[in-house]
Amino acid sequence: MDDWTPELHRRYHRLRVLGHGAFGEVVAAVDRATGQRVAVKRVFSRAGTAAGAALREARALRALRHPNVVALLDATAEGPCLHLVQELCATDLSRLLDATYGQLPAPVAKALMRQLLAALAACHGAGLMHRDVKPSNLLLGFDGCLKLGDFGLARAVAGGEGSPGGSPEDSGPAEAADAAAEAEAAAAAEPTADADADADSPPSAPGSPAYSPAVATRWYRAPELLFGASKYDGAAVDVWGAGAVFAEMLGLCPLAPGASDIGQLALLQRLLGQITPRSWPGVEKLPDWGKVRFDPPEGGDPGSGGADPAEFARAGLAGALPDAGSDALDLLASLLSYLPAGRPSAAQALADPYFQNPPAPAEASEVAAFAAAALSTHARAERALGALAALGG
Ligand SMILES: Nc1ncnc2c1ncn2[C@@H]1O[C@H](COP(=O)(O)OP(=O)(O)OP(=O)(O)O)[C@@H](O)[C@H]1O
Ligand SMILES: [Mg+2]
Repeated sequence: MDDWTPELHRRYHRLRVLGHGAFGEVVAAVDRATGQRVAVKRVFSRAGTAAGAALREARALRALRHPNVVALLDATAEGPCLHLVQELCATDLSRLLDATYGQLPAPVAKALMRQLLAALAACHGAGLMHRDVKPSNLLLGFDGCLKLGDFGLARAVAGGEGSPGGSPEDSGPAEAADAAAEAEAAAAAEPTADADADADSPPSAPGSPAYSPAVATRWYRAPELLFGASKYDGAAVDVWGAGAVFAEMLGLCPLAPGASDIGQLALLQRLLGQITPRSWPGVEKLPDWGKVRFDPPEGGDPGSGGADPAEFARAGLAGALPDAGSDALDLLASLLSYLPAGRPSAAQALADPYFQNPPAPAEASEVAAFAAAALSTHARAERALGALAALGG
């Protein structure tokens, strides 16, 4: 038994569940009227937070039209639920990396990274920060194009020209506005709203933005958030996330899989060097700075000693990713700069020599072919394992 409403069943033929998220499930379906394959994300709004997150997603997606951002086809509210109907994608980067047994071919990694940065440049140019860049939120279309998805934590950059609500002449689905208004009313009326990402209500005073640090999944979370920053550059937070994803594409495992925020900071410092006011001017002003003492990493303390912190970080990345090219490591080191202002913008990163140097980025059709082969090999291996388990059991 599924929990779709009769109205959803009337409009869409349900195929199968694609994924479960924090607030609901995503189902592959076919639009009965048009025959188009879609992904229906049903967001339960038992708590006002869920409605708020979905509302943000609807607004953010409506405002953007970009080949590397998942298209929102429709958004409707039914009672306490929001339904976001998106273009159907083939898989996500997390699943692709899981299914990649050898290395991700360098041209494929380059193509995916270029598209991720292009998506972020478009978001940031439109005044939106995504705030949850991670492999499972990077979808791969059937044509081999990467699509940034899951805008549940997205919000407008204070002072940015765009907003998740879009402009009045925005050509997005008309129902989305109604759904948004309904959900907003539901969220406002909800007295038991949890204090999650919704707690970062829009800045009360213009020019003094305060955001929640509890955004982005820990392994991809920028260090300023780990130190509790509530005033931060959301675009730089996204660029850090893109760096963590890049490292995972190059090494096929998470760069810093911390089990807690403190563990995350410890792992990062082991790799990139000690965080000190010398390696990161201004860190001492962050709310959680100094609350925990971290041991200096092996091989010295470049943060306070004579060694160059940037060189230490670059060497740490080279050690962790021995197969990565030198130009890829240079780009990665810049994306993962501790100092937020030291990170390039997504648009600047797109101009990095890495993208000009050989090998050329793979064509979308090559990415699609690689993904199809990797996923089918992986599915066969899983089936074989299942058969073995059945024999054993
Ligand atoms: N348009 C789509 N096409 C194909 N698969 C999708 C699509 N949207 C989402 N998925 C799948 O469903 C998963 C969860 O979707 P999504 O990230 O949007 O939900 P979420 O509730 O925000 O999840 P989380 O909280 O884990 O980030 C994705 O990781 C992906 O595997
Ligand atoms: Mg997600």
